[in-house]
Amino acid sequence: MKSSSLTRAVLSTVLQPVFSTRPNPGRSIVCSASPPKPRTPLYQRPPAFRATLSELKKWHVWAKNQAASVGSSFLDLDDGPDSPLLLRELNWLVEDALERPSVLSPQNSSSNYDDAIPVSIRACLYDLYKLWKQRIEERRPFQYLVGCEHWRDLILSVEEGVLIPRPETEIIVDLVDDAVRGNEKLRNGIWADLGTGSGALAIAVARILGVGSGRVIATDLSPVAVAVASYNVERYNLQQDRVAVRLGSWFDPLEDVKGELSGLVSNPPYIPSEDIDGLQAEVSKHEPRLALDGGANGMNDLIHLCNGAASMLKPGGFFAFESSTYKKLGFPLFLASIHPRKCYLRNVNHKVGLKHELNQQVDIVIGSTKPVDPQKSADYYATYSPF
Ligand SMILES: C[S@@+](CC[C@H](N)C(=O)[O-])C[C@H]1O[C@@H](n2cnc3c(N)ncnc32)[C@H](O)[C@@H]1O
Repeated sequence: MKSSSLTRAVLSTVLQPVFSTRPNPGRSIVCSASPPKPRTPLYQRPPAFRATLSELKKWHVWAKNQAASVGSSFLDLDDGPDSPLLLRELNWLVEDALERPSVLSPQNSSSNYDDAIPVSIRACLYDLYKLWKQRIEERRPFQYLVGCEHWRDLILSVEEGVLIPRPETEIIVDLVDDAVRGNEKLRNGIWADLGTGSGALAIAVARILGVGSGRVIATDLSPVAVAVASYNVERYNLQQDRVAVRLGSWFDPLEDVKGELSGLVSNPPYIPSEDIDGLQAEVSKHEPRLALDGGANGMNDLIHLCNGAASMLKPGGFFAFESSTYKKLGFPLFLASIHPRKCYLRNVNHKVGLKHELNQQVDIVIGSTKPVDPQKSADYYATYSPF
């Protein structure tokens, strides 16, 4: 896990629900909605607006007071951000919004600059007031204010309707890195990222596969996610055959590659429906429900993915799915959903240190499909030993 994401990503969390009901995991979807155009992240917009330094200072003092007034009230209420975290976010907002953020730094607070000088900003002053009001009063996630999230070595565009990628999901990329190292078949194969959201996993996996013949197909049921993931793929210049983004439910858009995939990764929705309202407001009120809600026990989608893995992957294929609930609900459910004659489950209890520090738990269901003739492949057994 890269530390770059720890600064901005770990400390803040996560939109306006765009889907209020969850679909049946296996259902086929035909969607006619035209994809919205994703917004350019604030830091990448031209500094086309001006305000005087004194106007900006006034905004900054107001925003700091707003953050300070929160104290620990959100933390006490629902584990939300406290004042120190909000103040840190305010600094990040200044960094993203101002062409020269240093004009607001404490060292320059007194006489270095004339208060009447014009300062170039990437959003108008009115919008800066509006955004910070939304952060404090509506608990709108910081990442939606600035339109991006730092994740691993990527800066991904995000907006309402798309899950803000979480640091704990980065572990899946490391697992893929391990799996393809020294395994050219996996590296040069077709991979799929199911429920791609912002495209985080698909883009990171494509970068790990490199410029050989390996490629990634990213799928999502949400047209907003498909639009944002496509935009991020374009921003990272991966569109030319390296990452294709498809709209549809789980395996539906992958019929043409059934049984031919080398790898499957996913961070599916896995929060039990009834737990969602109790999450911090940034998540429960603003993240898309479609990205969170794993059904009554949180396992609907995971089980669907586990069930399908064996038929979608070719022999010797690799899969890694993020989960957090299987322990609560019973390991047998997972085992039952993984095709026992075709798949090995590897380390099913992969603990993610970072999440543990935050006193939460994430597990990755990781496994592989058996080779056609395991007896002939001693190496395979050494790498992927069944329990
Ligand atoms: C927890 S989010 C993960 C997003 C992204 N992979 C990440 O880690 O940041 C789950 C994603 O699954 C998508 N999703 C939910 N139901 C789906 C379905 N039936 N088929 C495909 N994608 C689905 C959601 O739209 C959402 O983008």
